[in-house]
Amino acid sequence: MRHSTLFLLLTSSFSSAFYLPGVAPTSYEEEQIVPLYVNHLTPGLTEHDDQLHSVFSYDYYHPAFHFCQPVGGSKDVRESLGSIVFGDRIRTSPFELLMAKNETCKAVCEEVVFDARSAKFTNRRIAQGYYINWLVDGLPAAESRTERFTGERYYNPGFTLGTISDEGELELNNHFDIFIDYHPIWLPSTKKYRVIGVRVQPESRATSKVLDNGVVDCGENGPPFLVLNEETDTPVTWTYSVYWQEVPTAWATRWDKYLHVYDPKIHWFSLINSAVFVVFLVGMVSVILLRALRKDIARYNRLDSVRLDDLDGTSAAVEDGIQEDSGWKLVHGDVFRCPKSPLLLSILLGNGTQIFVMTGVTVAFALLGLLSPANRGFLATTILILYTLFGFVGGYVSARTYKSFGGEAWKRCIFLTPILIPGMVFGIFFLLNIFVWAKGSSGAVPFSTMLALVLIWFVISVPLSVAGSWVGFKQKAIEGRTKTNQIPRQIPRATGSLRPIPSLFLTGILPFGAIFVELYFIMTSLWTNKIYYMFGFLFLCYGLMIITTAATAILLVYFLLCAEDYRWQWRAFAGAGMTGGYVFLNALIFWATRMTFGGLTGAVLYVGYSALVGFLVFILTGTIGFFASWAFVHRIYGSIKVD
Ligand SMILES: *[C@@H]1O[C@H](CO)[C@@H](O)[C@H](O)[C@H]1NC(C)=O
Repeated sequence: MRHSTLFLLLTSSFSSAFYLPGVAPTSYEEEQIVPLYVNHLTPGLTEHDDQLHSVFSYDYYHPAFHFCQPVGGSKDVRESLGSIVFGDRIRTSPFELLMAKNETCKAVCEEVVFDARSAKFTNRRIAQGYYINWLVDGLPAAESRTERFTGERYYNPGFTLGTISDEGELELNNHFDIFIDYHPIWLPSTKKYRVIGVRVQPESRATSKVLDNGVVDCGENGPPFLVLNEETDTPVTWTYSVYWQEVPTAWATRWDKYLHVYDPKIHWFSLINSAVFVVFLVGMVSVILLRALRKDIARYNRLDSVRLDDLDGTSAAVEDGIQEDSGWKLVHGDVFRCPKSPLLLSILLGNGTQIFVMTGVTVAFALLGLLSPANRGFLATTILILYTLFGFVGGYVSARTYKSFGGEAWKRCIFLTPILIPGMVFGIFFLLNIFVWAKGSSGAVPFSTMLALVLIWFVISVPLSVAGSWVGFKQKAIEGRTKTNQIPRQIPRATGSLRPIPSLFLTGILPFGAIFVELYFIMTSLWTNKIYYMFGFLFLCYGLMIITTAATAILLVYFLLCAEDYRWQWRAFAGAGMTGGYVFLNALIFWATRMTFGGLTGAVLYVGYSALVGFLVFILTGTIGFFASWAFVHRIYGSIKVD
């Protein structure tokens, strides 16, 4: 019974129509103003080559675009912290949309003039395929598109700033046909209306202008395309029309059209592909490993009893043809020896656990439909909050591991756990932000937000982590299952794929295989600012990744121990963490195949953020690999008798 419920839950998230309403609906009276907010301009995949040409976003009111401001200047619209960190810059606009009232051809403001410089700037943005992002009643203004494979229609958030004609001319879209779907509802006394969908069809019109008598000419009859002259001034009039259409769709399902982002069939196919592969491999590996282990353990314990029977000196074991102890049992006196740099490893493990718990809970929340896209920035805010709160877990794990390693610099451990890794991440984030800021892009996180992040970090996260560490140090250390010898064993030279570098690359590739497909979709939606909503798939991928990481790390450790190399701790961590390296590598390949942008800043930004993500994945998967191996080592050495 439980299983079928879970399955139902899963499938409903897969069909991507399942979410709890995040915000209360707003109902408008007839002809009441429905505010239109503007967000930043973002780069998108251009139609002619399907490539991404930039990684920067620009403020809507960047002076070079000459978009009209409302009378008295535009104002910021309140946003959540997460939404700001992830790039949203929402502001008010002068557009007037009156509920359920069709209006054709209105001017947004008086004529504006593009000088040569802003013409150049804007033309460049058109060539790079920039998108305009508007919000009406919390819904993004979208372009209507047809799915290539299924022929289904869906809404793609944002619409283009301009078009590149077949002759290579850059046409600026200066007229907007706004189509709004609405739905009437009957409240006790009055009839009210709700916004269901927003679609914009932008057009380029050369001769639109405001006539002397105040009448607006939207240029439908003139020559169609407006091209900004890069030598002289070009006058431009921004115009728009609004069409309201009554639709039967209920408010609760208004996001469905937007969330159909990718064809789920392709997704299913590739996911099942990798799942079958992974399950098969992991299954095979564990069967072989289990059999080998069982044989080993039986042999070791038999050897012990043989030797106990034979106390007169000549070894019966050798006479019996049974070999002397070999393989992983030999290192029982060293396997629980403290690794090199136990402090650093503990700190990494603490932070890794923090990230692990955070991502796990976030993905679970998302799967349950709690992270509705209707709540802008809610996902990002949730991540920030969860990360902050799980500082306690990070501190605890770091302290407890460090104590189990026999570490003594506990003050340093408590202090560095919440400072070192978050500090590095924040530092890189800050540096990259300076680049963005210098570029004049709106992607730069405002200083006040930075300050808020630092405050949250020091006021909430650090104390929580310290408290966690304190509790961790109070607990008993986790003892090894065998006694560690005074003198370390000689380690034989490693050969073949057990050498450090090959083993690193081999261990990381499997978990990467499990997330590879999903990663592609996440990256596309991240860099093109599209809604990512395949949380069901994400959940499965996350699960697959954990299993493969754990399995490959255990396998690596088993081979290492059999080769009498007992330094498994760092090897397990780094080997499993190599998945992060592959994620970074994959980002570089994505750059080479899906992106064409020039300029040093863009490259620095892209590589910087990719490296940051790769590093976080490194810590995450490394931690998974380490703890899986830890459990494994405790288990196998706990099941043999050592005299
Ligand atoms: C507005 O115009 C559209 C398209 O021309 C039409 O379908 C719709 O009925 C009109 N709505 C109102 C409220 O007049």
